[in-house]
Amino acid sequence: MILLDGKKTSSDIKDEIAVEVAKLKEQGKKAPHLAAVIVGNDGASLTYVNAKVKACERVGFESTLIRLSEDTSEKALLSQIDELNNNDDIDGFIVQLPLPKHIDEQKVIMAVDPDKDVDGFHPTNVGKMALNLPTFISATPFGILELLDRYNVETSGKHVVVIGRSHIVGSPMSILLSQKRKVGNATVTITHSRTQNLKKITLQADIVVAALGIPEFLTADMVKDGVTVIDVGITRIEDASKKRGFRLVGDVAFDEVSQKSSYITPVPGGVGPMTIAMLLKNTLLARKRRD
Ligand code: GUN
Repeated sequence: MILLDGKKTSSDIKDEIAVEVAKLKEQGKKAPHLAAVIVGNDGASLTYVNAKVKACERVGFESTLIRLSEDTSEKALLSQIDELNNNDDIDGFIVQLPLPKHIDEQKVIMAVDPDKDVDGFHPTNVGKMALNLPTFISATPFGILELLDRYNVETSGKHVVVIGRSHIVGSPMSILLSQKRKVGNATVTITHSRTQNLKKITLQADIVVAALGIPEFLTADMVKDGVTVIDVGITRIEDASKKRGFRLVGDVAFDEVSQKSSYITPVPGGVGPMTIAMLLKNTLLARKRRD
C-alpha cells in the first residue's frame, strides 16, 4: 500500500508556487492577492479559511480575510462581492461555503466575477471545465487530479466509481476523470444516495472517490484488492481524548480498506491540504491572466 501523501505533495506545490511568486516580485510585478469571505462562526469553516490565509503567507501572496456576522443579509454579502469584483488590487476571491440558510448560495456564486472566481464555482467556469476549456478548476477535484498525477496512478481505461454528486466534488470529479486529459480517460460511474446495489458497483472499481460525507462509509468488503481510494470526507467526531475535543474522520474505514489498497489517501493529510494548494495555483493563474 502506498499512501497518497497530500501533506507532502501540497508542501511541494507551495514551494513551487513560492519560487514563481519570488520571480514575479523580482520582475517588479505584483504578488497575487487572494481574498476570502466568511459569513458566521462555524468552527470547521473558520479553520479552513484560516488555513487558506496562512497558506498565502507561506507562498508570498497577499491575503485579505473578510469576516461577516451570521446575520449578514444577502444584499450586504452581494454588495461585498461587488466591491471585491471591482477592487483592482484583488486577483481572486472565494466565499466560503456553506452559507447561512437565509442566503441563496446560487445567487452568491453567480455574483462573483468569473475572472476572479478561483473556486471555479461560477456557471461560466463550470461550463468551461465541462467542455475541457482552460479555466479555474475547483480546488478539490483539481487537487485529486494533481495527487494522482504526481504518484503516477494510471487512470486511462480504468473504472472510477465516484460516490457523491455534489457540485463541489462528485460532479466535477466525474466529468474531469472521463475527459481526454493527462489524468483522465477513465470510465466513470457516478453514484449517490439513490443508487441501488452500490457495493456491487464499488467492487468493480479500480479507483474509488468517496465524497458523500458519511464517516467510514466505505468498508473493506466494498472494494477489490489493489484498489486506489481517494477519501474526500472530513467529519469532526467528538473525542474527549483529543485536546481540541474532536478527531477528523474520512468517508473511508481507513484501517481495513488500506489493507486491500494499492494507493490510498489518509484523513487528515490527504485531499484537504491539496485543496488549499490548488486554490493557490488558481490564484497565481488569476494574477498572471490579469497582466
Ligand atoms: N466549502 C467546502 N469546500 C469549499 C471550497 O472548496 N470552497 C469554498 N468556497 N467553500 C468550500
